Amino acid sequence: MPSGVVSSRVLVLAAGALVALGVPALLALSSSGSAPAATAAAPDFARDVAPIVRETCLGCHRDGGIAPFAFRTERDLASRASLIVAALTEGRMPPWPPSARSPAYLGQAARTLDRRERETLVRWARSQLVRPGPARRGTPLAPKPTPERAFPGETRREVAMPAAYRPAGANGSTDDYRCFLLDPKLTNDGFVTSARIVPGAAALVHHVILYRLPAAAVGEARRLDGRTPGHGWTCFGGPGVGGGTSGGRGFLDDAGWIAAWAPGWGSDRLRTGTGIEMPAGSRIVMQVHYNLLNGRRPDRSRAVLTTVPADRRLTPVQTLLLPAPVELACRRGESGPLCERTAAVFDQVDRFGADSALVASGLLLLCGKDAARPVPSVVSSCERRLDRPVTIQAVAGHMHLLGRSIRVELNPGTPRARLLLEIPRWSFHWQASYTLRRPVEAGPEDVLRVTCRHDARLRRGEPRYVLWGEGTTDEMCLGVLQVTPR
Ligand code: HEC
Repeated sequence: MPSGVVSSRVLVLAAGALVALGVPALLALSSSGSAPAATAAAPDFARDVAPIVRETCLGCHRDGGIAPFAFRTERDLASRASLIVAALTEGRMPPWPPSARSPAYLGQAARTLDRRERETLVRWARSQLVRPGPARRGTPLAPKPTPERAFPGETRREVAMPAAYRPAGANGSTDDYRCFLLDPKLTNDGFVTSARIVPGAAALVHHVILYRLPAAAVGEARRLDGRTPGHGWTCFGGPGVGGGTSGGRGFLDDAGWIAAWAPGWGSDRLRTGTGIEMPAGSRIVMQVHYNLLNGRRPDRSRAVLTTVPADRRLTPVQTLLLPAPVELACRRGESGPLCERTAAVFDQVDRFGADSALVASGLLLLCGKDAARPVPSVVSSCERRLDRPVTIQAVAGHMHLLGRSIRVELNPGTPRARLLLEIPRWSFHWQASYTLRRPVEAGPEDVLRVTCRHDARLRRGEPRYVLWGEGTTDEMCLGVLQVTPR
């Protein structure tokens, strides 16, 4: 049935209601047929509701998706009408971590609802509570196909995990962080221009980060892979090889992220004219975070990249890291051998080797704090002056499981202050990188600041003094900026 038929019937119904209420003037308006019926009648499912749901909900609420139930038909939504009203009015769905104060990001429209869209969905859901419409209960909702966009001159390259991997949490944990070494088979220097991540067992995959691995570090990755039983290796906070987020020369200035992905996101295309440099022979480390609360199926995730040859002279995108030291003490009243900072440092050395002892004090020094007398705090922050003129293209924040909030800003407390990203309610499960709709120019006259708040009450297991580190029980406070030189 064409939607026009329904809407005129709705109009007649609405007009009847108005007559009954004795509002003839309004009746004249609505019976003209061109008046906005939506103000009086419930939105029409096929015409008003389905397009919004297809665009903003089905990325996760689909068969095999990460959400606990799929919206296959109108009936699926109608039967959850009260949950939908609650989730939308409380702003829980669709999940969009940045605060309203944060700047606009590319792709935001497809991942969030504007006021009108939210109202339309809520009014429709409310109407289903009062009087479920008998019509079209089976209207199927097909997910939007993800566009496969390779532009002229681009080569499409698919990289996939070598074989299916069955995720497993260590020591009863319900999270598994696994890294896989992938070969994009680059025989010549080139640039990555886009990355689309296709999770295998979509319900389990909570985030994926692709890191560039220089040819020189491939041997190290192979050895780590070989030492670890099963495919890939365990890697909590970063790739665990080639410098990563816990050390290595120059890692603060170019950490080599290619793309970060979270459920609900389609393809990730770098801004036109920019690309990630991929020298011949470089590999990709794909870090996959599995959430085992959603099952333990084998997964074989893959990514589709587009690349162009180096002679296209794109502006290279670099990943600038802005870490802050984490010095989270045990709470008042808690005690245990690891509540002592020195003991916590040695515990890290046991787990990750001698270098990890240098990271905690190195971060204090980097951020101009007293490394001899670290002051514990639930708030971590670090300021760093840029050393070169750059254009800030994209921003991400990263913490582990004890994070509460994170903010990345430029020149805070000055007239030139700019908020780049603010996540007021941190969830480890919803990590992604946000590309600024309007890139921000900055340079040596500008100061970047990252601020994190951690909460020791979120800690499970043995009380401990928590420091920066790669492990599940360690923390991070990290701003990640993708920049291009100017
Ligand atoms: C990025 C993935 C994602 C998107 C997009 C998304 N959801 Fe969800 N949804 C989830 C997950 C995961 C849950 C389970 C609860 C949780 O983890 O927060 C959920 C739970 C829900 C619930 C159960 C109640 C609740 O709040 O937990 C409702 C209702 C819901 N979603 C409606 C929607 C609607 C309507 C849309 C689109 C406007 C939408 N969701 C978009 C992932 C998503």
